[in-house]
Amino acid sequence: MSGKPHGGELVNRFDPQADLSVTAHEVEIDAFALADLELIGIGGYSPLEGFLNRADYISVVEQMRLADGTVWSIPITLPVSTTVAGALQIGDKVRLSHQGTIYGILAITDIYSPDKEREARLVYGTDDTNHPGVKKLLERPAVYLAGPITLVKRTEKGRFASYHFDPAQTRERFAEKGWKTIVGFQTRNPVHRAHEYIQKSALEIVDGLFLNPLVGETKADDIPADVRMNSYQVLLEKYYPATRVELAVFPAAMRYAGPREAIFHALVRKNYGCTHFIVGRDHAGVGNYYGTYDAQHIFRQFQPEELGITPLFFENSFYCKTCGNMASAKTCPHDSEHHVALSGMKVREMLSRGEAPPPEFSRPEVARVLIEGLRPVSV
Ligand code: ADX
Repeated sequence: MSGKPHGGELVNRFDPQADLSVTAHEVEIDAFALADLELIGIGGYSPLEGFLNRADYISVVEQMRLADGTVWSIPITLPVSTTVAGALQIGDKVRLSHQGTIYGILAITDIYSPDKEREARLVYGTDDTNHPGVKKLLERPAVYLAGPITLVKRTEKGRFASYHFDPAQTRERFAEKGWKTIVGFQTRNPVHRAHEYIQKSALEIVDGLFLNPLVGETKADDIPADVRMNSYQVLLEKYYPATRVELAVFPAAMRYAGPREAIFHALVRKNYGCTHFIVGRDHAGVGNYYGTYDAQHIFRQFQPEELGITPLFFENSFYCKTCGNMASAKTCPHDSEHHVALSGMKVREMLSRGEAPPPEFSRPEVARVLIEGLRPVSV
């Protein structure tokens, strides 16, 4: 049985009947903010009921807590241009639209200009504009609007509609299956053998696996979500017990904030009903910005009860030719010459040349789907 959502109650701010005529103001929001709007509305970000006001924002950036002390590690903000902000004031309501469709209403309680360099340094650990999360942060407009939201329309779910479940639904599904302990797995990559190994190791000690790939905005050289979804499907069909796994998409954008994002990923999966959460090597990392296990060490800064979800930490895993097994430095005595290890970049290169990585690295069925999916479309 899933535990309580973060903050105690699952937030529900979806109201498709909400009266849109309450305001004449309308603001265009980007895809990143739209994903956040929807996740707030469906309770994925419980206890958040809207975009962070200044007090919560400063507290999250500086201390990884909301102003009331609740743990929260990533600022969820709504950036607009100075011109747009100039036409609005506290107390206004504003319709939030994306590409001509209205998705929400914001009741403005605060309008403020953040110190983005400080946000970058504290949240991402760097203000280097080559970091994709920092780049995105700095590119987005300069003023933050804040206040509670109402989600009035759900986004189009596209091809993978059958894998979209709200936190209330996943909680129900876990309960129906009688799962008492559920481990969440965040991923933005195809599931390679190392992922499979740590998922299955975790599954040995819990009732169910919640495979929850992120399908929101990612950087251009990550493998597109639809190709990844196809790869998860073939893998699950062939190598996972159907009664022990739930596959559902996580519609948020990727921040690449490493340790801070690991805390955020765990708290959000708690809202989806997970009791445990996998954190392996360089979780949500990019380049060399974070230490291999920083995303595990950060969990020490919090008391288990204030997180309310148990992290399961895994060492860097690989196939060892001499052991003839998947393993990690904790279980394998051989040195790296015995190991099959490939960088993400190298794998990506092989796949785009139509070459399958070794079966010890990727299941052949997965490699086939990836090669097919990454093949340039001929014109
Ligand atoms: S992430 O950005 O979503 O973290 P990825 O999809 O690669 O990227 O990783 C998903 C999860 O698997 C993360 O918890 C990550 O730490 C873990 N992981 C990925 N590869 C390995 C590996 N070889 N060994 C151990 N953990 C791994």
